[in-house]
Amino acid sequence: MSVQARPKRLSVTQVQARKGGDKLVCLTAYTASVARQLDSEVDLLLVGDSLAMTVYGFDSTLPVSLDMMIAHGAAVVRSTGHALITVDLPFGSYQESPEQAFRAAARVLAETGCGAVKLEGGEEMAETVLFLTRRGVPVMGHVGLTPQAVNALGGYRSRGHGQAERDKIMRDGIAIAEAGAFSMVIEGTAESLARELTAAVAVPTIGIGGSPACDGQILVIDDMLGLFTEFTPKFVKRYRQLGDEIRAAAREYAEEVRDGRFPAPEHTYAGPRRPKSAAAE
Ligand code: KIV
Repeated sequence: MSVQARPKRLSVTQVQARKGGDKLVCLTAYTASVARQLDSEVDLLLVGDSLAMTVYGFDSTLPVSLDMMIAHGAAVVRSTGHALITVDLPFGSYQESPEQAFRAAARVLAETGCGAVKLEGGEEMAETVLFLTRRGVPVMGHVGLTPQAVNALGGYRSRGHGQAERDKIMRDGIAIAEAGAFSMVIEGTAESLARELTAAVAVPTIGIGGSPACDGQILVIDDMLGLFTEFTPKFVKRYRQLGDEIRAAAREYAEEVRDGRFPAPEHTYAGPRRPKSAAAE
């Protein structure tokens, strides 16, 4: 039996070394079946808390629990072997204290086998990022539009158009980079701000509505495949319309069942087998 060498997963240090180099290609993934398809095409898969909306039908990311993130993170790790898997820490699992964040992150790393965690926030989370990274937890940051703060931000509008907001987001990104984050998502910000922040930090920035100035890009998989159509942010490009494909397949199946064309003989087990001796006669 030949043993095929499995390609090794990308590590956080390899991702970090891509600063200013080849663009980092990232997508979200939540399930084994989809992660398996994406793995060889991307550098990083994020098990994002956006699964609250895409998989579970909530209207924000807030209701997701740590157990839900761990179940999906483990499924994505089990079904992949190339991409660096990063799992979101959900709302309420890390904001209280660095110690609370460490307990949540340790569970995520140990129970999923993923390579890193992501958390939202800037200056106010820098102490936590430092606490985690000093204790062996690789952390991806997330600044700009931070969906877990939707209630405080007053909605999902893009960020960084006024000077005070720009200054704050710059301070946020610099603070978490200096605290040891290996990369950071910049979401929903003006291009000039994303460009300035990308130039100011030594770690890769991953844009989602952060403009081409970032060191890499990420999209929510259900958005880019046309599976989540409740609303479409400006930064989403739909590469396929799989929602339409799924509906068309279901319609075709329904018609075939109703008019008796499915199952056909090739999908049907034959009747009782005749004993060999009888068959020979
Ligand atoms: O949860 C998520 O999908 C994210 C992306 C928007 C980066 O955090």
